[in-house]
Amino acid sequence: MIEAGILGTGSYLPDVVVTNQDMSGIVETSDEWITTRTGISERRLSSGEPTWFMGAVAARRAIAASGVDPKSIGLVLATTGTPDYFFPSLACIVQAEVGADDAFAFDVGAACSGFVYAYDIASKYIASGAVKYVLIVSAENISKLTNYADRSTCILFGDGAGAVVVGPGRGGVHSSYLRSDGKGGDVLVCRALPISHPFLDGTGRNPEGWDSGFQDRFPDLDDNYIRMDGQEVYKFAVRAVVESTQAVCAEAGIAVSEVDHFVMHQANMRILEAAARRLGVGMDRFVVHIGEMGNASSASIPICLDNMARDGRMKPGDKAVLAGFGAGLTYGAMLVTL
Ligand code: ACO
Repeated sequence: MIEAGILGTGSYLPDVVVTNQDMSGIVETSDEWITTRTGISERRLSSGEPTWFMGAVAARRAIAASGVDPKSIGLVLATTGTPDYFFPSLACIVQAEVGADDAFAFDVGAACSGFVYAYDIASKYIASGAVKYVLIVSAENISKLTNYADRSTCILFGDGAGAVVVGPGRGGVHSSYLRSDGKGGDVLVCRALPISHPFLDGTGRNPEGWDSGFQDRFPDLDDNYIRMDGQEVYKFAVRAVVESTQAVCAEAGIAVSEVDHFVMHQANMRILEAAARRLGVGMDRFVVHIGEMGNASSASIPICLDNMARDGRMKPGDKAVLAGFGAGLTYGAMLVTL
């Protein structure tokens, strides 16, 4: 076991609560449609808080809960698909905010799987002896990329941040399993800024091969909003969490039935329920907060961990599978002792 246990957790959710009833005021939908298809009743949306602010608050809370001196944090990893700046990175902004002055800091780009990817990286830096403590902060203002005229996506997402400090002293990591499937990435896409400069003549020297292929699925991909093929994402997500959960349990020599908590990316209640059925475990072992926070992308798992810490479910010695999946496609899981 790598001594990279969860020493402290923190989270931040904005105050603005948007109910399904509120959503039905802006798009043609209903509370009944949203709750039965997704399990979401309400979500939090930023009241203007930047991503770095939410991340810094969550990070300060995690550091306080861990009792670790910020100056002994050797690495700050941040995950976000919705930063405030292209640069500096979210990790560097949070590093400065929390006073982790002896750390190096960088962002991990793995969409909704970001937290699991970051935790895996953290555990390997700790195992190598290069650093002792790692701060992982996941913060998302996914509302920035949401088209509130598109009822098939806007009802899903919420903003928020979660953070953990990992290191020696409590629990640790038994096994991890990370995978990516770039060829399947066209089912969940959000375009970044287009090329634009004064010498662009619009003719293109060699337009062959410049099209990513994402436009084949989404021909209207000309803005900065999320595009999703919901049914394909659903199938991928269930397959991904089952495969990665079984893989980490097999590697650690632990039966899936011996896992106390399944802390999975909160994308959709139906994904969690299908995963529970296929894994043969009861929903009572699944941590579920989708109903009141919506899908907060990479922040969803650390927010769940912080909720567990606050409501007493984070019991030392318990085993948990953390499983993420998202755009890329990316997915993966970790088996940890809390
Ligand atoms: N309210 C009412 N009707 C809606 C809504 C809505 N909010 N959204 C879509 N519909 C309609 C569609 O227009 C369509 O109507 P039509 O038959 O007249 O054309 C009908 O409902 C069915 O649309 P589908 O897209 O097929 O709906 P589906 O049953 O697949 O449910 C959903 C959509 C909930 C998104 C589902 O595909 C799903 O759970 N996908 C998983 C993807 C997911 O959760 N992604 C999260 C983000 S990605 C991530 O975090 C990794």
